[in-house]
Amino acid sequence: MPAAPQAPTAPPNWVASRHPLGWLIDRLLQVGPLRGLLFQQARRLIIRTAESRGIAWRARRHDLVAQAEPLLPAVLCPGLEPPPYYRVRFHAYDAGNLCWEAAGEAEQATDAMALRVWPGEALAPQVAQRRLREAIFAIVEPSLEGPLRRVLDVGCSVGVGTLALRDWLDQRGDRTAVVEGLDLSAPMLAVARVRDREGRIAAWHHAAAEATGLAGGSFDLITLQFVCHELPQAATLAVLAEMGRLLRPGGTLALVDQDPQSTVIRRLPAPIATLLKSTEPYLEEYFCLDLPAALEASGFGGVRTQPCDPRHRVVVAQRMRVPE
Ligand SMILES: C[S@@+](CC[C@H](N)C(=O)[O-])C[C@H]1O[C@@H](n2cnc3c(N)ncnc32)[C@H](O)[C@@H]1O
Repeated sequence: MPAAPQAPTAPPNWVASRHPLGWLIDRLLQVGPLRGLLFQQARRLIIRTAESRGIAWRARRHDLVAQAEPLLPAVLCPGLEPPPYYRVRFHAYDAGNLCWEAAGEAEQATDAMALRVWPGEALAPQVAQRRLREAIFAIVEPSLEGPLRRVLDVGCSVGVGTLALRDWLDQRGDRTAVVEGLDLSAPMLAVARVRDREGRIAAWHHAAAEATGLAGGSFDLITLQFVCHELPQAATLAVLAEMGRLLRPGGTLALVDQDPQSTVIRRLPAPIATLLKSTEPYLEEYFCLDLPAALEASGFGGVRTQPCDPRHRVVVAQRMRVPE
């Protein structure tokens, strides 16, 4: 695997541990009881804030998990072993994305994330979520070439972005395009199936993004929404190679994630940055990677980067056509 291209702009000061502030943050997080206390306090605050904004965090978790648990055998790909980088603590859940607690809270956390994008506006969670996704797809639109028959949402989690993609295609009149989701977490996929009550998503695949097992050249559009910051650089490069294999020539890949140029992200207050870093093990690797350059090195063309909101950017690219 070639070396990952490094980002042209320095990551936010709080990301790199060699920076004095980053160093201090790292030291504090190494003190186990302090870390535990910080997580507990942050979790309480997140849930309280979300519930005060109309997200029924705890009640919804209870309902989703109760309905999803019986579906687990149907979504599970037997023998699928998640890679070691995936089995670490994420978002303050010790079992990372593989536990029921994470799966039962992902929808609420995604809505809370959407609300944080526009803190000065009293938006309903669903309104913020719709605005977030519509801004993403509006940026993807100009890069689409040819009809959309088969669309894949990789790292789909509980399907919030997958269903938003389905809504957007319906609005565009692409009713015959099929949308599929893929994730490494079986509990997340079981919750996704509960949320997709009407069966609007054609398939929920339990697979690793770097080795999907799906047919090559069979997708017209692939999205990775808020996934790359959860991957070490080597995994991101492996995923890009697999996405290049899955897309038909001229097919479009869209990567949405935190924007390293965002002033909101760059100026995050130190305590918030401390907590963020402690719950996102590969954040530093994400911010240090030059994603557009990595796409070009992986054989993609037409690479375009555009902010979609004050915190996030979309990087869109096309799988190159092989010259005839
Ligand atoms: C922050 S969530 C994505 C949220 C979702 N796409 C959305 O837009 O709301 C990241 C997801 O990526 C998944 N993921 C991380 N690494 C993966 C991998 N190597 N293969 C497949 N899924 C992966 C995690 O299980 C998790 O569900």
